Amino acid sequence: MNTILKADSLVKSYSLHSDNDTPVLKGISLEIKEGEFIAFMGPSGAGKSTLLHILGLLDTPDTGAVTGYYPAGKQHIYSSLKKKQAAELRNKHIGFIFQFHHLLPEFSAIENIMMPALIAGEKVSHAEKKALALCEKVGMIHRKDHRPSELSGGEQQRISIARALINEPSIIIADEPTGNLDSANTVAVLDLIKRIRQERTLTLLIATHSIDVARMAEKIITLRDGIISSEVIVHKVDNQSGSSQIQSDSMNTNEAL
Ligand SMILES: Nc1ncnc2c1ncn2[C@@H]1O[C@H](COP(=O)(O)OP(=O)(O)O)[C@@H](O)[C@H]1O
Ligand SMILES: [Mg+2]
Repeated sequence: MNTILKADSLVKSYSLHSDNDTPVLKGISLEIKEGEFIAFMGPSGAGKSTLLHILGLLDTPDTGAVTGYYPAGKQHIYSSLKKKQAAELRNKHIGFIFQFHHLLPEFSAIENIMMPALIAGEKVSHAEKKALALCEKVGMIHRKDHRPSELSGGEQQRISIARALINEPSIIIADEPTGNLDSANTVAVLDLIKRIRQERTLTLLIATHSIDVARMAEKIITLRDGIISSEVIVHKVDNQSGSSQIQSDSMNTNEAL
């Protein structure tokens, strides 16, 4: 499998007061393969969102480097990208799903799904056609003209998944996508993510507190206090029960889950 993202020694601090920096990432290195599904776990404040934002070109590290190897055959050193290049790369190749969906309140569901395609310069008619197909896929076609405020939390999240997919990104970054959902909606969102992954190669990075979400991943990376405290490979076992088995030797599975 080819590498799609590589991070070397990422360090990030926030200065809340001019003389007092709060270190958030304290030297994170990792390599992500194309098509891999990684769950990022760890307590609140561990640095999961900060790391995902840096990997997704929404934020920059103080020191350290990220290299992206997408689309196939291309290589981008994040720190050398101009703002506009970074925005274009993000728009075309990375889809984001947030805990609080971040849908635009004044636009309908279908318009929200279309938005990244319009930003990428697609014709309205083409963007609309793709958005309608995705709206159907996430089971929301009957709500396509509703505004976000007229949708339930689970419905809003399904629309934001469709929006994340419209430009056919190489990478999906989801920050606690089920964090705000009840268990029925969590299952629905998980099923949707599973189905999408069966259809095409997609690298999936999800920060989550949900064991059910983490169990679907191939690897669980646990952050604690700004460092990677464990990395566990989850081997899927194709048996009748369909259960998955977590293998770890020196790694601490309990900590990850
Ligand atoms: N914009 C910011 N300004 C100041 N501190 C921040 C900012 N974003 C995050 N932090 C701090 O960085 C730490 C890590 O945050 P975050 O990456 O959101 O962790 P997680 O997603 O694992 O809960 C927290 O202590 C948080 O308060
Ligand atoms: Mg977070």
